[in-house]
Amino acid sequence: MDRRYSEETEWTALDPSGTIRLAEELAAWSAPGTVITLDGDLGAGKTFFSQAFAKAIGVPGVVNSPTFTIIKEYEGAAMPFYHMDVYRLSQIEADELGLDDYFYGDGVTIVEWASLIPELLPDNRIELFISLLENDGRRFRIRGIGEPYTLWCRKLQETKEEQA
Ligand SMILES: Nc1ncnc2c1ncn2[C@@H]1O[C@H](COP(=O)(O)OP(=O)(O)OP(=O)(O)O)[C@@H](O)[C@H]1O
Ligand SMILES: [Mg+2]
Repeated sequence: MDRRYSEETEWTALDPSGTIRLAEELAAWSAPGTVITLDGDLGAGKTFFSQAFAKAIGVPGVVNSPTFTIIKEYEGAAMPFYHMDVYRLSQIEADELGLDDYFYGDGVTIVEWASLIPELLPDNRIELFISLLENDGRRFRIRGIGEPYTLWCRKLQETKEEQA
């Protein structure tokens, strides 16, 4: 097992706007080859985050859940956006789809339910684990593995301190 350097932080979204702010931060730092993973219970806000992220990178129109298609591709302002939901992904489909072509391709990828396919993910990635708080609050536990994602965690930490 590769033991890459990783960094952790947390982001509390008291309401949907807090989730949108986090998505906007990550979108601003994204580049071709960026991989963001999302985990959390049903209704935690994985797709909501993905939609906010898509908007932030300039994807026009509606982004909805790719549950039945596994991967949807969109054209963003500066690069493509690959939106995956791997909840129902089988190994055969994974082989056919060639996930690495997306992860190491020209766009930015978000993977919902990524913890179901740990061995298929690229080593370097940023992982978001969403849990529910009271009312409309959400807690994001965030882990950046490798560069540039460890740096992203430190930058998020600074953003939080500025806002506090
Ligand atoms: N702070 C918040 N952040 C994100 N979503 C929120 C927040 N507060 C309320 N919501 C609402 O929670 C719902 C989250 O649903 P969403 O479809 O994004 O969940 P999901 O994690 O993708 O679930 P599933 O696994 O069933 O696809 C949305 O209706 C959204 O409006
Ligand atoms: Mg969803």
